[in-house]
Amino acid sequence: MTRNAKLLSIVEKMAEMCRPDDIYWCNGSREEYDLMVRMMIHAGTAIQMNEAKRPNSIFVRSSPADVARVEDRTFICSDKQEDAGPTNNWADPREIKATLTKLFTGSMIGRTMYVIPYSMGPTGSRIAKIGIELTDSPYVVANMHIMTRVGSAVLEALGSDDDFVVGLHSVGDPLVDPADPDSPWPCNRDHKYICHFPETREIWSFGSGYGGNALLGKKCHALRIASVQARDEGWLAEHMLILKMTNPEGQSKYFTGAFPSACGKTNLAMLIPTIPGWKVETIGDDIAWMKFGPDGRLYAINPEAGFFGVAPGTSMQSNANAMLTARANSIFTNCAITPDGDVWWEGMTEEAPPELMDWLRRPWNPQSGRLAAHPNARFTTPAKQCPVIAPEWEDPNGVPIDAILFGGRRGTVIPLVTEAYNWQHGTFLGSITSSETTFAAAGRVGQLRRDPMAMLPFCGYHMGDYFAHWLRTGANADPEKLPKIYYVNWFRRDASGKFLWPGYGENSRVLKWIFERSNGSSEAIDTPIGRIPAPGALDTSGLDLDPAALEELLKVDILDWVSEVPLIKQHFETFGTRMPQGLWDELHRLKHILNQERRKISNND
Ligand code: OXD
Ligand code: MN
Repeated sequence: MTRNAKLLSIVEKMAEMCRPDDIYWCNGSREEYDLMVRMMIHAGTAIQMNEAKRPNSIFVRSSPADVARVEDRTFICSDKQEDAGPTNNWADPREIKATLTKLFTGSMIGRTMYVIPYSMGPTGSRIAKIGIELTDSPYVVANMHIMTRVGSAVLEALGSDDDFVVGLHSVGDPLVDPADPDSPWPCNRDHKYICHFPETREIWSFGSGYGGNALLGKKCHALRIASVQARDEGWLAEHMLILKMTNPEGQSKYFTGAFPSACGKTNLAMLIPTIPGWKVETIGDDIAWMKFGPDGRLYAINPEAGFFGVAPGTSMQSNANAMLTARANSIFTNCAITPDGDVWWEGMTEEAPPELMDWLRRPWNPQSGRLAAHPNARFTTPAKQCPVIAPEWEDPNGVPIDAILFGGRRGTVIPLVTEAYNWQHGTFLGSITSSETTFAAAGRVGQLRRDPMAMLPFCGYHMGDYFAHWLRTGANADPEKLPKIYYVNWFRRDASGKFLWPGYGENSRVLKWIFERSNGSSEAIDTPIGRIPAPGALDTSGLDLDPAALEELLKVDILDWVSEVPLIKQHFETFGTRMPQGLWDELHRLKHILNQERRKISNND
């Protein structure tokens, strides 16, 4: 176990409040994982899958009222409300702790409290951080085994250090979900609280068993709390994939990329390049922690050890590597079950199987008129099983980053790829990242949601301060050694609403241009919004792409951008006085150049 005084006293205090029947210290062993699975099967929450088809894997179903992150029940409980910023829900830390103390009191009666020591990042890495999650959910223990490094080695690495994040989690009141009396899942429909205490580095999560709300190492620790630690300690905790790209000559470069949820981050992290001789390997698919190395370069680790991927839409066509990763030793949450005990979800195969059990364990067939898997059904699967995991994915020193990509889903305006002029300009591009939630059939505007750096739901402090931290990070570094920053958009459409770019493996062509930019071997041209590939610089050989489509993909439409400026201004204004001047300067510069260009256009008319 441990002699860590702070840890022992926290476990004692929390157990006094939650009153579990037992306390179990997790050691991370295979036997422990198997025990969790057996308990879930016994309780009726899990079903063993067909051992021949999907070895050592289980189906788990959750309560239908507990299937996703709950942003409206997620709170940043900083001492001062203004430190949480206008885009986070805030709660007074003293008041919310009083409320939560009532809920947690006795919440584990009749259950075991599991103490999970985990490391985010390779155990002992200078970039990694340790956390302790206390939970009453065997599902959480099993998932944490896959998603993080759990066990005795972590306690050894921690020693007597008191620098660790504390997470307390209970699925809550063991009442049966009133909407679904057959559900064996406890679920607190009215009492979900996902609370973060950034000053004391604590997380208290009550009433939900869903991944992002309950696996506290992931969004809660590795993003919301870590973003605050990163601000205080001078590094970056980001919602980013990490990939390695190797050219035919054997030279490798590493990129990170931030995309809002549901923009294909996992697919990009594992893409199979269509350009001959090039290779892409995966380091991480969701979170990157980046620190400067002794050589002044920015190094990234993947703090996670597994993938918690969205299942629907994943197929051998869209992401063969994810499919192959999840071939065994995986947990499938809220997926459909085939008659022979294998898994299925919408989009896995072109045609649905003739009969299935749906995610709520009801008989299903293609005529049922409802989805077989929940749209947010997930696979939890070990990263080391990924066929294209990079051999250095667990390097404790991390990998040196050459480029940072920001991306969103925009049908218009944003070109396929734009290179920032410098770090401040790149931060500006990241700060205006946006996605269309829907796309108007007529083809122009969808509903726009700004999600700066894809961090809006995951930043543990004021986003204005977060932008300032990005600017400071760049200002303190050697500009020659900083990664270049890019803004990409795979989702531009033509006037009829059709996607102009094929995406998936073909995105390797854009990555190739970015790779060669950092070599100085590909050309770019300047535009008011940044640099785009010079004519012929983007490798489209072997791709059936109409030259007019390519032109449209790379087009910087001055009038479209003129209309974008007031929207960006409005977006910046939401952050009030904490919006750093450097980003306002970028917006004013953009507005000025666009006005000049617009004048040129009208003079030519
Ligand atoms: C995720 C998300 O689950 O971003 O990774 O929502
Ligand atoms: Mn994510």
